[in-house]
Amino acid sequence: MKQLITNLLAAALLLSATLVQAGGGAHPIPLESPKISVLDQSSLQRGADLYAQYCMGCHSMKYLRVNRAARDLGWSDAEGVAHFQHIRNGQGKPTDMIETTLNPLTAKQAFGKVPPDLSLEARLRGTDWIYTFLRSYERAEDGSLTNKLFPGVAMPHILEGLQNSLPPVEFDAAVADLVNFIDYAAEPAKPQRLMMGWWVLGFLALLIVLTYLLKKEFWRDVK
Ligand code: HEC
Repeated sequence: MKQLITNLLAAALLLSATLVQAGGGAHPIPLESPKISVLDQSSLQRGADLYAQYCMGCHSMKYLRVNRAARDLGWSDAEGVAHFQHIRNGQGKPTDMIETTLNPLTAKQAFGKVPPDLSLEARLRGTDWIYTFLRSYERAEDGSLTNKLFPGVAMPHILEGLQNSLPPVEFDAAVADLVNFIDYAAEPAKPQRLMMGWWVLGFLALLIVLTYLLKKEFWRDVK
């Protein structure tokens, strides 16, 4: 039995060491963390609008439906269509997925790659990676563009105009909102899940008080 426990512990240690290695150190620059929460609905709304304006031209979110996102963000179906389907010239429906109008073949010709679907991007890369990636473009003196986190990336510096028009703090805040929306998209039930956690903790706290009072009542005459 003792042997088994020691072996299990050793395995757990080894696994966590491997995970830590896989998570950190592999990036050319350190990742930065945005201060975001999917419970902040106005941040999600701002992020969704930035996404619709700057990203949807190339990237789809094929697992996120317009009316689902609209409902979670506090918008009506019609507002959802207005926010997410503006590139469809009035043809968009609330039941559509949030999809780009860019033809994959045209994209391949233009960028050498088809822009990947971003529905699950926050699970794939993590929010820190996306936040750092979007803020790591640099234009050299000769006009050439590099991304310090993703050298040789085929995506242009889409947010360059925004970055040049805002003070750095505000640009970072805008990117954080955008990343918040991408995080929400990867798990639309996350806000409910987090809220449920607080309800459960509150319920348990109440239960502790009640059981304590009950215990006192039961033991009152015993002593
Ligand atoms: C002009 C088209 C275009 C636009 C607009 C665009 N992207 Fe991209 N994006 C691409 C292409 C192409 C790639 C693939 C790059 C590669 O693999 O080299 C990419 C890759 C990415 C990746 C990395 C995917 C991965 O895991 O490898 C992320 C994250 C991303 N884009 C986010 C965004 C966000 C957020 C926006 C809006 C601010 C945006 N993109 C706007 C074309 C675009």
